[in-house]
Amino acid sequence: MEKLLLRNVDKENSHTIDVYLSGGGYRAFKKALKEMTPDDVVEEVKISGLRGRGGAGFPTGMKWEFAAADVKEPKFFVCNADEGEPCTFKDRVIIEKDPHALIEGMLIGAYATGCRYGYIYIRGEYPIGRKILERAIAEAYERGFLGENILGTDFSFDLYVHSGAGAYICGEETALIESLEGKRGEPRIKPPFPVNAGYLWKPTVVNNVETLANVPLIIERGGKWYSQIGSPDCPGPKLFPVSGKVKRPGVYELPMGTPLEEIIFEHAGGIVKDRKLKAVFPGGASSSVLTSEEINVPMDFPSLAKAGTMLGSGAIMVLDETDCIVKATLRLTEFFRHESCGKCTPCREGTDWLVRILRRIEEGKGSEDDLDVILSISETMENSFCGLGMAAHNPAASTVRKFKDEYLLHVKLGRCPFRSV
Ligand code: NAI
Ligand code: SF4
Repeated sequence: MEKLLLRNVDKENSHTIDVYLSGGGYRAFKKALKEMTPDDVVEEVKISGLRGRGGAGFPTGMKWEFAAADVKEPKFFVCNADEGEPCTFKDRVIIEKDPHALIEGMLIGAYATGCRYGYIYIRGEYPIGRKILERAIAEAYERGFLGENILGTDFSFDLYVHSGAGAYICGEETALIESLEGKRGEPRIKPPFPVNAGYLWKPTVVNNVETLANVPLIIERGGKWYSQIGSPDCPGPKLFPVSGKVKRPGVYELPMGTPLEEIIFEHAGGIVKDRKLKAVFPGGASSSVLTSEEINVPMDFPSLAKAGTMLGSGAIMVLDETDCIVKATLRLTEFFRHESCGKCTPCREGTDWLVRILRRIEEGKGSEDDLDVILSISETMENSFCGLGMAAHNPAASTVRKFKDEYLLHVKLGRCPFRSV
């Protein structure tokens, strides 16, 4: 497949505006600004079928339509670059190697929705990305793509970078907005959705980095062209970060809907030392596990939902036959316990109890009843206040269901069977 999202990343100095312009950069923005109305741009994105790449897969054109229809001013356009899901490192490639594609996507989005100011909220652990973005924004101002009356039109847009301080919850869009306002990053109740009441309670579009990098392609080549790539009801190119026990870990750009099995065994080279594949978390650390018998599934939002898990950020985490499923689940759950903001009881208490129980099973001190307790806690956590708590129990609940024998072996042996005695 022709490289689309990663078309620039192997070029020398791909992060500079000169290299971006020499490859046709900012042509789509100029086309939108000079030849299309804001409504035309929204319509083109709707035709493309683009769905958000942050994890939830909400239709981008619809989000922009809602924001465009809101008359409150000023409006804000925010890029969520708080990529914090364990094993998710796809946005980083765009931020560091092709920052102007992101800026161009934001400019087009801001024009389409009538936003005057923009923020890129980048995770604190991406200091290099922050510097690269700041330099790219300065270059865009110098060339007249940002600021007042851009390219002689009445469209004005100012863009700033804001660095997070290391809290995973700030990737949740309403916590991100709270943090941007200078407050503690805790989620707000939804609705109202940010498109109507976001930053400073004004209409705010929040889009993920990868989502925005798709936008110049759609405007330049057309929504219809884009809609024919990948899965019909979930089209476009997709970045898949693959990690764990594969021979060639990395970020792969493939059409949405590429089978998981093909990504692992063809693109990522198969399992290290040709061992057996044991399990895969197909959509980041908060997705439910798939067994080796379940990996012939198209990697898109509807197919993975049908398979009882989710595409999420598209981050594929592979475990082989030498990995302990209990230990892997414990590690993931420890992450969520650490990152739970503590605002609501099911998540604050649920993640803590899951960690305690998983740890005692992993240490060989658990009982068979513990498995039912894990499932019962998971059920309660479904009622958490935000997506973090609603999904944090997925690794525990799904591995207990699908790898029950391995959990029971820990109980029976009184130790981890994968640990040398
Ligand atoms: P969500 O379904 O609540 O919202 C998705 C987007 O659509 C949001 O921007 C929301 O404002 C918008 N939206 C939904 N319904 C709307 C409506 N009726 N009107 C206007 N706008 C509407 O999902 P959420 O909680 O924002 O995201 C959850 C996903 O985030 C999970 O699937 C998870 O995979 C992913 N995630 C990604 C991480 C990463 O590092 N990329 C980290 C953690 C989670
Ligand atoms: Fe905070 Fe977790 Fe509740 Fe979300 S689910 S509000 S992260 S405690």
